[in-house]
Amino acid sequence: MSADIAVQAKRRRTFAIISHPDAGKTTLTEKFLLYGGALTQEAGAVKARAERRSATSDWMALEQQRGISITSTVLQFSYRDCVVNLLDTPGHRDFSEDTYRVLTAADAAVMVLDAAKGIEPQTLKLFEVCRDRGLPLLTFINKWDRPGRDGLELLDEIESMIGVQPTPVTWPVGFAGDFRGVVDRRTGEYTRYTRTARGSTIAPEELIDADRAAAEEGDAWSTAVDEMELFGATGQDLDVESFLAGKTTPTFVGSAMTNFGVGKLLDGVIDLVPPPGPRPSQDGSVRSLDAPFAGFVFKVAANMDPSHRDRIAFIRVCSGRFERGMVVTHQRTGKPFATKYAHQVFGQDRETVEEAFPGDVVGLVNAGDVRVGDSLYEADPVTFPRIPSFAPEHFSIARVRDTGRYKQFRKGIAQLDEEGVVQVLRAPDTGDQAPVLAAVGPMQFEVVAYRLENEFGATVELTPTAYRVCRRTDAAGRDRLRGMRGVDVLERSDGTLLALFESSYWLDRLVAEEPDLCLEKLVAEGELRQ
Ligand code: G4P
Repeated sequence: MSADIAVQAKRRRTFAIISHPDAGKTTLTEKFLLYGGALTQEAGAVKARAERRSATSDWMALEQQRGISITSTVLQFSYRDCVVNLLDTPGHRDFSEDTYRVLTAADAAVMVLDAAKGIEPQTLKLFEVCRDRGLPLLTFINKWDRPGRDGLELLDEIESMIGVQPTPVTWPVGFAGDFRGVVDRRTGEYTRYTRTARGSTIAPEELIDADRAAAEEGDAWSTAVDEMELFGATGQDLDVESFLAGKTTPTFVGSAMTNFGVGKLLDGVIDLVPPPGPRPSQDGSVRSLDAPFAGFVFKVAANMDPSHRDRIAFIRVCSGRFERGMVVTHQRTGKPFATKYAHQVFGQDRETVEEAFPGDVVGLVNAGDVRVGDSLYEADPVTFPRIPSFAPEHFSIARVRDTGRYKQFRKGIAQLDEEGVVQVLRAPDTGDQAPVLAAVGPMQFEVVAYRLENEFGATVELTPTAYRVCRRTDAAGRDRLRGMRGVDVLERSDGTLLALFESSYWLDRLVAEEPDLCLEKLVAEGELRQ
């Protein structure tokens, strides 16, 4: 049994694709499915896309209204002899803490860049989180089929903006807009592709040797050769150790639309993304893969199916074999938890999961009491490190419109707080009447307002505040800051005291003048590492 678990874990590749909206994440996901054999026919591919856009991830009317996806889900498929778990992260338009939390369940991330745009400022933060967590990062420079920027310039930008050195694994023959194929720098092999209609089938490819490439591709080939020589000279060769440490990023170039280079990237995922390893627990011990089942909740979603109004907790399996129906212990409450309703979920599609192994994600329905960060285990107790609360950047005061609905409002705020939809802060004087909601992305407020109204019948008024930046403080800090202008100290529901400043200038001055005052940045490096 335990040998089986080790074998199964070794086959898993669990990662997330992160990108700026429109860089091609959806297209790439679909092409991964195509290469993974999960979408076999042309019609299937096109339809799946149309369906995903209109139904699968649009589980909530709010999503439909805005044409965005709020939920993060997981997609599982086989490729080569591996089981790929692709975690879906919402893009920046619907940027929220969820996006970050998904990364705690991933063993690596693929950063997708649009070749014409490079690193876009809005997504920089997300890439930085990967770097800070030391999460291994692969890079895919997408849309090489159409005019874009110079390849070398893009590599420089990656290095200077996120501080991770790109090590090109594949390199294009032909500039952006004249894409012919890629050279795999590990083998020196040149793969030339042929376009298919709308890229709906795997791009036919041909392996071409250097002499023929030089003869047939002319300048495009010699430019590629010159550029690749440069990488050798600057030490930009694939280095697995520094990749696993999050210091270099193996880089692939391609076009998700035409499928050029997509197979190479997927192979790169299989070859490079580390399989799940033993997971550190909060007390510093390590949960080995073959220990009894254990996992942690990285996301809770409610009302994915409006006709059921249920809650589903997404659990990343860290050790052992999960079997549907097993009774596990919910670490925080010590209560038994029945797993009769275990699913694999992608948007609205649910498939019952019978068993799962380290690296897999299981969705547990009816997870009433379960919160983000909670651990579940069988037999030997374990507590995995808590998922960090990310520094909120948006703050709004919530008030119920109809005071007759105050009870529902309170209940709703408490539940959304527990689910981690938003952080709830309270001032000693206004307390529960007018809590301050704190979020990483403003979209979180919309979700709160929508859900309070639709699930709890409490329409709210959200008033933006003047707060711009926040720091963690302690009781002494609270006493010192009391009465100062431009700052308030509020308490988060987990007991953390947060000092909210109206300007970072004022904060910087205070830090300089009173270095002993506790004003810590909310997300500390150590806190992020798992
Ligand atoms: P996202 O999930 O990151 O937001 O991006 P998505 O895949 O939806 O792609 C955004 C747009 O970019 C889409 O065009 C898509 O077809 C296009 N695209 C993705 N990959 C490539 C590529 O490799 N080359 C080119 N040329 N385009 C690419 P759209 O016009 O918004 O949608 P559609 O009409 O094509 O469906």
